[in-house]
Amino acid sequence: MRIDILTIFPDMFEGPFNHSIIKRSVEKGLAEIHIHNIRDFATNKHRNVDDYVYGGSAGMVMMVQPIADCIDKLRAEREYAEIIFLTPDGELLNQGMANQMSLKENLIMLCGHYKGIDERIREHYITKEISVGDYVLSGGELAAAVLTDSIIRLLPGVLNDETSALSDSFQDGLLSPPVYTRPANYQGWKVPDVLLSGNDKEIKAWNYAQSLERTRLRRPGMLGETEKLG
Ligand code: ADE
Repeated sequence: MRIDILTIFPDMFEGPFNHSIIKRSVEKGLAEIHIHNIRDFATNKHRNVDDYVYGGSAGMVMMVQPIADCIDKLRAEREYAEIIFLTPDGELLNQGMANQMSLKENLIMLCGHYKGIDERIREHYITKEISVGDYVLSGGELAAAVLTDSIIRLLPGVLNDETSALSDSFQDGLLSPPVYTRPANYQGWKVPDVLLSGNDKEIKAWNYAQSLERTRLRRPGMLGETEKLG
């Protein structure tokens, strides 16, 4: 899979993409991530990428031309399944959307800033608008990093233990059960006996009951929503 990210702050991706699972997946050739600086496409003298809002309200808006030129260049090179704009008024990201997008070949993610991007980009280029939560970030970069991570960890071969993505919270419509490691007794805090029993059937049943109980207590709205998982 290939992901192209359009941003005016390319350096913001250095941290999140240079560690752990994302780094490993790129090194293994399972994913390609290309960061494009929108400013490189600005044709005006000062390489401005933003301008005042028509109609007089305060703040700056990202201009059409540099973004359009960047997307046009990419689309001339290959086909993209989605051109995604990260925005707080987009569709709320969930596991089902990550699952669906992990099946695509090429994706573009556009990060907005300031007051937003010129609406004509949304009308003529964007095929999907995604929010990572009901709060406002300073820009789309952190949201694009979250979205990228949620997709890439699902690609076959990215996680060492192939089953571990499948047992994530949300993947089967339930939150994950609690997990423990050694020692079995830490200063009197004991690991539940069933997990030490070696009885696979009982352990499975316990894990399932814990998942169900956790979901009922913490996220009751998830129960019965399995069909949204894609
Ligand atoms: N840009 C600013 N806030 C955002 C959010 N919550 N989700 C996605 N993109 C954003």
